[in-house]
Amino acid sequence: MKPDYVHGYSSAEDARLMDQASTLTELLHCDTTYPPDSLVLEAGCGVGAQTVTLAAQSPQAAFVSVEISPHSLAQAKARVEARGLTNVTFREADIVSLPFDGDHFDHVFVCFVLEHLASPEKALAELRRVLKPEGSITVIEGDHGSAYFYPDSVAAHRAIQCLVDLQRRAGGDALIGRRLYPLLVRAGARDVRVSPRMVYVEASRPLRVDGFIRKTFTAMVEGVGEQVIRESLMDEDAWRKGIRDLYRTAERDGTFCYTFFKAVGVK
Ligand SMILES: C[S@@+](CC[C@H](N)C(=O)[O-])C[C@H]1O[C@@H](n2cnc3c(N)ncnc32)[C@H](O)[C@@H]1O
Repeated sequence: MKPDYVHGYSSAEDARLMDQASTLTELLHCDTTYPPDSLVLEAGCGVGAQTVTLAAQSPQAAFVSVEISPHSLAQAKARVEARGLTNVTFREADIVSLPFDGDHFDHVFVCFVLEHLASPEKALAELRRVLKPEGSITVIEGDHGSAYFYPDSVAAHRAIQCLVDLQRRAGGDALIGRRLYPLLVRAGARDVRVSPRMVYVEASRPLRVDGFIRKTFTAMVEGVGEQVIRESLMDEDAWRKGIRDLYRTAERDGTFCYTFFKAVGVK
């Protein structure tokens, strides 16, 4: 398990990953399907939040989902079984040192993982190694610098910046979305296409208000609160105001924008 993984492995974080995935399924996965009989690697599957969508959308493809945390892997397995999906096998593995021969997979899929790695370049090199020539690699990441909202709030932006700083300190990059194109090109991928996917939320979309503003984004920022206070990155009152102001954007007159980046390249 990764001890410095910024979001941790609590049950609240597991629930947040599920809320994130169900709110964003259409936006992120509407164009992700794999041909019958193809073998697809999902790297860093977590608790299986994306796995269930991938496997259901391509029922005749076979997925191998790997994850470094045995705790998350067990949940992913249970989740896939509960959905009655039979086209996924699971394996505990580190994305930078995969237990597969070269040119093994027809396609590779990674979602919300590179942002946590000290060297996304190393991970991409390893993913490229196990991908067959002409196979595709799909990478989805967020970029916390893309969050803007109404009512605007200096305290809320400072709270978000604390998460960005903590993630950087743990070796990751919460602003990685904007780097996907150069990362994939430098990793040797060709025909790289990046599509920004903006989530725009206001009161006329109540499911997104709850699923994205409250349960995905603000829950994620709030999750590092203890560490922020302990390490005096913000004083407690200012932190609480920042979190309150983020929740405030979920009220009737609030709006919230955030952009995910989906990159697809070919080996
Ligand atoms: C934010 S979660 C995303 C999980 C899932 N892809 C999703 O979108 O819901 C990031 C996951 O990457 C995993 N991870 C971090 N470093 C890893 C590594 N070196 N190898 C494999 N998985 C890793 C973490 O354990 C965590 O489950």
